[in-house]
Amino acid sequence: MNTSPRTVDVGGDTPYTIAIGPGLLGDGARLAARVRGRHVLLLSDSQVAPLYAPQVSAALLQANPQLRIRELVIPAGEASKTLDSFARAIDTLAGLGASRDACVFALGGGVVGDLAGFAAACWMRGIDCVQLPTTLLAMVDSSVGGKTAVDIPQGKNLVGAFHPPRAVIADTSALRTLPPRELRAGLAETIKYGAIRDPLFFQWLAAEREALLAGDDAALAQAIARSCEHKAEIVARDPLEKGERALLNFGHTFGHAIETEQGYGAPGNDNLNHGEAVAVGMVLAARLSAALGMAADADSEALRQLLHAYGLPTAIPAGLEPPALLARMRLDKKNIAGRLRLVLWRGIGQAEVVADVDEARVLEILRAG
Ligand code: NAD
Ligand code: GLY
Repeated sequence: MNTSPRTVDVGGDTPYTIAIGPGLLGDGARLAARVRGRHVLLLSDSQVAPLYAPQVSAALLQANPQLRIRELVIPAGEASKTLDSFARAIDTLAGLGASRDACVFALGGGVVGDLAGFAAACWMRGIDCVQLPTTLLAMVDSSVGGKTAVDIPQGKNLVGAFHPPRAVIADTSALRTLPPRELRAGLAETIKYGAIRDPLFFQWLAAEREALLAGDDAALAQAIARSCEHKAEIVARDPLEKGERALLNFGHTFGHAIETEQGYGAPGNDNLNHGEAVAVGMVLAARLSAALGMAADADSEALRQLLHAYGLPTAIPAGLEPPALLARMRLDKKNIAGRLRLVLWRGIGQAEVVADVDEARVLEILRAG
């Protein structure tokens, strides 16, 4: 059996490769080849570390016994993506005596990836970070493109840096232990690519729903590779989000407002996770587009139905107040001069950035929401 992983190359000024395939966390030669020096920080969370960290450490050491590896395990969940966790990562790098050729391995979902990437961006003004995504969401989105950040109580991802990874190594076998709710959250970001720029992928996702939800390896690998191709194409052209990269935030301004207003979640609580909040946000963005006369109602309904069929939420959770959500949206990083700038669409596959959106119309959508 040919076990060569699929690869997607990310071009631009700091090119790197995304490898996608089963068993890659045990591929010591591939992992160690990305380490330029001797120091390694392996950052993971309390759910992922017991499952995969020993395998990664052993594989690295087998390939290069000279490596000095330090592990840092943060509590699982969005509530750990904080400045406190960032300080712990920096302390650990200092304790390791990490030099400029050190490497941070981010073993986990988007929370670990964003935090590890930010620590790597800041230690000695920037060291290597290798992303080892273990959630579908991280494989299709957060591990690629170099956005790193932590949350503060005022808002999601408000403190961060652009710091492209040295490599992304996505071991699809890790998805076997992923809770179904987290698989669905990743599928929301996958559907996003169809919604913003690929109607055929949108149709494919509708057709392959049962296979994807059942965790079919071939269908998942195809969904990851296609998503990464989309993201790679966009971030190579616009790494710092000066233009088209903003389209990747379809549904995110609404979604981040929901996440922040709910308080960041821990595993097992009822708050929406990131992918779920983005699912609701995409429906709201599509409805706003229809209300502004940019798109047909039928398109927002088709998106809502697909997300619903995937078992994702499509309405704002009870108890969240529309004016409070609007206030959160005013802190979004896309806004200019205090005016709302949102990603809306003209229909499936046709997203665009719209500046100066009338807050009253947004409030109407949130109230109906
Ligand atoms: P997450 O990192 O919290 O992971 C979700 C849960 O799954 C956690 O409890 C984790 O411990 C568990 N888990 C992870 N892998 C597992 C596995 N293989 N088996 C069993 N359990 C596993 O959340 P996420 O959805 O991966 O990422 C969300 C975060 O990503 C948010 O903070 C969001 O802002 C960020 N994000 C960043 C970007 C970016 O471009 N940087 C893009 C999208 C999202
Ligand atoms: N997830 C949005 C981006 O990477 O730009």
